[in-house]
Amino acid sequence: MLWIKSFHIIFMITWMAGMLYLPRLYVYHAMCEDEIGNARFKVMERKLYYGIMTPGAILTIVFGTWLWLGYGFGGSWLMWKLLLVIALVAYHIWCGLVLRTFRDDKNTRGHTFYRIMNEAPVLALIPIVFLVVMKPSF
Ligand code: HEM
Repeated sequence: MLWIKSFHIIFMITWMAGMLYLPRLYVYHAMCEDEIGNARFKVMERKLYYGIMTPGAILTIVFGTWLWLGYGFGGSWLMWKLLLVIALVAYHIWCGLVLRTFRDDKNTRGHTFYRIMNEAPVLALIPIVFLVVMKPSF
């Protein structure tokens, strides 16, 4: 089980790194006014989203579900954790939709909007870690 939990944590870190870095790229992309910079941001965003973030998300969920169903974990902490994981998955999908608007040069939002959105994953990450480490029953 410890191998599975180790992989769960490794891929969770990979996923969260992407979830915090990609919106930061959107901040600078929204401020970018030159064509070379615009093209460079598109490549970085695509590679980060499809090469790191999405595999990280899938493998975090695969190993987490393996722990949950394979080793009989349960309790209200896990249900609250899964609710927050659903919010993270929704944010991940939103990042993919934004990726397409930048790819098609159709972004209309400014850098301030993306600065605010950049903080959102932390609002799920912190309670998730407290829930899984302390396992409160409520
Ligand atoms: C479908 C998604 C997920 C499921 C089913 C799941 C389930 C689990 C289970 C059953 C454990 C083992 C708990 C233990 O050994 O005490 C665990 C550990 C852990 N999970 Fe998840 N998890 C999921 C997603 C996530 C996400 C998205 C994060 C962070 C953003 C996360 C962070 C952690 C951490 C840090 C641990 C290690 C806790 C410890 O060793 O005390 N998990 N997860």
